[in-house]
Amino acid sequence: MDNKYIKVVLSERTIQKRVKQLAKQITLDYAGKTPVIICMLKGAVYFFTDLVKNIDLPLTIEFARLSSYKNGTTSGDMELVADIKEKIEGKDVLIVEDIVDSGKTLAYFIDMLKKKNPASVKICAFLDKMERREVNIKSDYVGFDIDCGFVIGYGMDYAEKYRELPYLAEVLDPTKI
Ligand code: IMP
Ligand code: MG
Repeated sequence: MDNKYIKVVLSERTIQKRVKQLAKQITLDYAGKTPVIICMLKGAVYFFTDLVKNIDLPLTIEFARLSSYKNGTTSGDMELVADIKEKIEGKDVLIVEDIVDSGKTLAYFIDMLKKKNPASVKICAFLDKMERREVNIKSDYVGFDIDCGFVIGYGMDYAEKYRELPYLAEVLDPTKI
């Protein structure tokens, strides 16, 4: 996409290299286990598929969808649009998220998961905006720590657009894209 109102911050190549490193680490850390890996729709979809393809474990994949950003970049109320189907009691659960911002989305979801008595719950986030955290949520695996503004691509959207970009870009002027 040729657009002067966005700036590429992570190339496709940089992303793919990092995702493989994360997958390798997860494979080592969960050796001997059969984790349930949950994709947080829609944003984590590309990260999730790239990640699980590179994890060498007998895993189960699941999908959940929570909605908090109603439109553009403003936060609204939390809603569980689609829940996981798999039983997770006694299982090791790894949540795969696109970006942890305030942390409210994951805090809400983890509370719900813990009621089902999993053996463990960990977080693997493609991006972490640590300085914007409002609740006590810490990612166990992080692709990249970022401190830039609103980002799009590699699954992430601005008002439901630009998810399909294979790279990550910062939105410089939201009124122009
Ligand atoms: P939180 O509940 O504030 O942590 O928000 C997390 C969710 O907000 C992520 O899963 C994204 O869907 C969305 N989000 C936060 N920052 C960005 C961004 O820079 N670009 C796209 N989506 C974002
Ligand atoms: Mg999301």
